Amino acid sequence: MSQAVLERSTSPQVRLTKLFINNEWVDSAQGQTFETYNPATGEVIAEVAEGTAADVDRAVKAARAALEKGTYAKMDAADRGQLLFNLADLVLKNKAELAALESLNCGKTITDSLGDMQGVANSLRYYGGWADKVEGRTPPVRGSFLTYTLRQPVGVVGQIIPWNFPLAMLAWKLGPAIACGNTVVMKPAEQTPLTALRIAELAIEAGFPPGVLNVINGFGETAGNALCVHTDVDKIAFTGHVDTAKIIQKATADTLKRTSYELGGKSPNVVFADANIDEAVDGSFHAIYFHGGQCCTAGSRLFVEEKIKDEFVAKLAAKAKARRVGDPLDPNTQQGPQVSQEQLDKILGYVDLGRKQGAKLVVGGERVGGKGYFVEPTIFDGVRDDMAIAKDEIFGPVVSVLPFKSQDEVFERANRTNYGLAAAIWTKDIDKAHLYAKHVKAGTVWVNCYHVVDATTPFGGFKQSGHGRENGEAALELYTETKTVTVKLG
Ligand code: NAI
Ligand code: MG
Repeated sequence: MSQAVLERSTSPQVRLTKLFINNEWVDSAQGQTFETYNPATGEVIAEVAEGTAADVDRAVKAARAALEKGTYAKMDAADRGQLLFNLADLVLKNKAELAALESLNCGKTITDSLGDMQGVANSLRYYGGWADKVEGRTPPVRGSFLTYTLRQPVGVVGQIIPWNFPLAMLAWKLGPAIACGNTVVMKPAEQTPLTALRIAELAIEAGFPPGVLNVINGFGETAGNALCVHTDVDKIAFTGHVDTAKIIQKATADTLKRTSYELGGKSPNVVFADANIDEAVDGSFHAIYFHGGQCCTAGSRLFVEEKIKDEFVAKLAAKAKARRVGDPLDPNTQQGPQVSQEQLDKILGYVDLGRKQGAKLVVGGERVGGKGYFVEPTIFDGVRDDMAIAKDEIFGPVVSVLPFKSQDEVFERANRTNYGLAAAIWTKDIDKAHLYAKHVKAGTVWVNCYHVVDATTPFGGFKQSGHGRENGEAALELYTETKTVTVKLG
């Protein structure tokens, strides 16, 4: 593992730090600000306006007005789609700047950030294409009636997003919301507000009328909660921790607003001895260490068939030792810092717990350098299902290797979790692969691959990994109300 190199040649400019309401840049009602950090150094990048309930209320009023009167309310569906196409084009035009800003604020490698920006554009384009294809039906009802259904927007939508994929999560939520004619109040994660603000600026350029997209920076307990309890917000879409979702579920109970959740995971990645071992090693490495493990689908429970386990772990460990951990803005870097001191502490806490509970630390386990929030790629072998490191979402570069002997055994153990976001299997046996795909309780299953996510495919969780599906046609369900209209004939 190389030491973190913190000198960088390019440092993106930070111009936008206010709240974005009704296409205007405003200070928070009470004038407060909060600091946003560079996780590679721990240093403050900028002071950002801190929105609270009064600001959320202003944004909701703007969103409501845009929904009900004015150009957006009257806009043809195809023209709403064009807004998303325009925004996608602008994201690609400004890809280098957006990616650098994302890396600066969230610590992901510049290579990954550039990949994310392409994903953002793909997602916005995909939903731009849906805008004029959200159709109702004409059910063949009994009697002399004509019945048809209309798919109408849910209304003003509060979107609360996390720090691990700041713009990708924004795009996954903004795209379908606009395609279906909703207006949005976006609450970026407090750790990573900067790129959402730049997108807001690009949205003006893309032709978004005032009030259609509003961005309120701030903390979950204040700004986020204000959205959840607001009587004029119709829906909350959330991505983040399962415990936060439970708080939101309670906070939204009084208004019975619609909610959708995309939460964490402890995804089982199962490797059989009949797999192509080198491909399985590479894939399992990517499964856990992509974005330093800060991924809801991270393959953090690595089940390896006992007869190949030692060889497999040795190959994985060699790759872990060779990983270049360092400056996220350096194109040669393979792993940047974790996002925050809080995440660093959480991850190192789990490493300690793993050691204490008797798992074997094969490689890693330490912080890298004394500055910034870097963690070594870490492998624990000989992990048991009941250990904390095998049960809890660590959200860092820490994998638990769990040996298994038989197919029945591993299929059963794979489901022994409250989560159900993703799962993977590595084998050349198609029976085994499809049986697993059918059996495993997860919203996404990968066979001989990992982290393949596309704008066209439904994404979400079984069990406590969430409610609803984002991406694909499925997300349109989250952003429309179906209205049945019946007309008496003759
Ligand atoms: P979090 O769930 O607290 O934060 C996610 C978003 O929710 C942020 O925008 C935050 O401001 C907001 N939020 C927090 N409390 C809220 C409340 N009471 N009402 C409304 N909104 C609220 O996640 P956090 O604390 O940043 O990370 C903790 C852990 O959560 C991570 O270690 C990881 O395990 C998990 N996580 C999972 C993610 C995923 O993609 N599924 C993304 C981020 C975190
Ligand atoms: Mg939190």
